[in-house]
Amino acid sequence: MTTDPLATTGWRFDELRHAGAEHLDAEYVAAYERKAGYDPAPDVARFRALGLDRSSTLVDLGCGTGAFALAAAPFCRRVVAVDVSPSMIDALSALAEDRGLANLEAVRAGFLSYAHQGDSADFVFSRHALHHLPDFWKAIALTRVAGMLRPGGVFWLRDLMYSCSPFETARVIERWLSRASAHPGVGWTRAELETHVREEHSTFTWLLEDMLERAGFAVQAKEYSDSQIYAAYTCTRVPR
Ligand SMILES: C[S@@+](CC[C@H](N)C(=O)[O-])C[C@H]1O[C@@H](n2cnc3c(N)ncnc32)[C@H](O)[C@@H]1O
Repeated sequence: MTTDPLATTGWRFDELRHAGAEHLDAEYVAAYERKAGYDPAPDVARFRALGLDRSSTLVDLGCGTGAFALAAAPFCRRVVAVDVSPSMIDALSALAEDRGLANLEAVRAGFLSYAHQGDSADFVFSRHALHHLPDFWKAIALTRVAGMLRPGGVFWLRDLMYSCSPFETARVIERWLSRASAHPGVGWTRAELETHVREEHSTFTWLLEDMLERAGFAVQAKEYSDSQIYAAYTCTRVPR
């Protein structure tokens, strides 16, 4: 009998309940890539410049429909694309099959429940997903990411994170909301962004950076968007 990795008991966080209802909705998932407008090519090039090659194992956590995992797979030995949403995983599995990507495994699990099997990962990628966890659970999730990487392995994380002080928050958020998309089909509307701020768990960069170090990462590079809403980190797992 197999156990559902997302089953929760006692004090454990319910990843499915906090995944964002829209991510579980097949109709939203079918339209997701157009809305997200994400081109994975620059991120694949970045990973290749960091050493990703045909011997590498790559894990994509919170992969969604897998735009990055699908684009990276031809350059890797093994890609594991992980997401809590059955609809996302189904969409990704269908695309991987269509493209004949036999080295891509789609796994329904989350930051807190994915159990990495086989050789340690050389690279972990995560984009716009960690904010589904409250900070306590982010800190735990980051130790789990460190646990699946080999020493010296690379973790690249990008998410909505506020690179400002709490005193500046209202100005930064209002400026971001004022630039929201008018059309939900091709971007996130003001109402959707408001929901993100109110109900999801984007945190301050200075809190996240402390969590990364405590989890066993050395931050090699950081990028903050001009909007002060997005941040990206290139980290290496410190040998223990
Ligand atoms: C905004 S989408 C980002 C998808 C993709 N990484 C991208 O950049 O387009 C957030 C994804 O995180 C997933 N997610 C939510 N909670 C999660 C968790 N606890 N563990 C892993 N994935 C999660 C959602 O199902 C969704 O596919």
